Amino acid sequence: MNVRAATVDDLAGMQACNLHNLPENYTMKYYLYHALTWPSLSYVAEDHKGRIVGYILAKMEDLEEQQDGAPPAAEHVPHGHVTSISVLRSYRRLGLAKKLMVQSQEAMANIYHASYVSLHVRKSNRAALSLYRDTLGFTVKDSESKYYADGEDAYAMQLSLKP
Ligand code: ACO
Repeated sequence: MNVRAATVDDLAGMQACNLHNLPENYTMKYYLYHALTWPSLSYVAEDHKGRIVGYILAKMEDLEEQQDGAPPAAEHVPHGHVTSISVLRSYRRLGLAKKLMVQSQEAMANIYHASYVSLHVRKSNRAALSLYRDTLGFTVKDSESKYYADGEDAYAMQLSLKP
């Protein structure tokens, strides 16, 4: 299994993978926005035939303009954000999601000087919570009521990328 930076040619495969795995789906325009704006933050995992079996779609969230020269609030410091990650069922527990996360996090820190990475996850998503908290070291920063369209709450999680 190979993990590499996503290109525009991969977007249809990433969207298909997302549709298989998650109820949170996005328009092709939104995939394109990620790929064209932050080309080094999204990655794919492919099988030996080059089929996409996992992806991470990620972006930077920008510094909010300060009116008065005051330092930015913590949530407005430039940081990375994981929009979506998933791996096809038969390719899970092989370490692919961890690899996808680490590659994207490294690019956020090295290329965009992100001080931390954020994401949202369903409170009931045990596999993803374990990946973020136990394997990667994320912590829960907040709980957002009815964040998802079906009314489920989300944890807002963060991981510092400072050395
Ligand atoms: N149960 C408990 N812990 C798990 C599970 C699980 N089912 N899956 C992964 N983990 C934890 C383990 O600690 C694992 O390490 P280990 O295998 O050495 O015990 C660690 O995460 C790393 O696992 P990976 O093999 O890298 O994870 P995988 O490639 O299987 O992908 C993922 C994990 C992405 C959560 C996958 O289960 C999936 O695609 N789920 C459906 C989609 C989804 O929920 N995506 C996340 C939504 S939130 C968001 O996108 C920001």
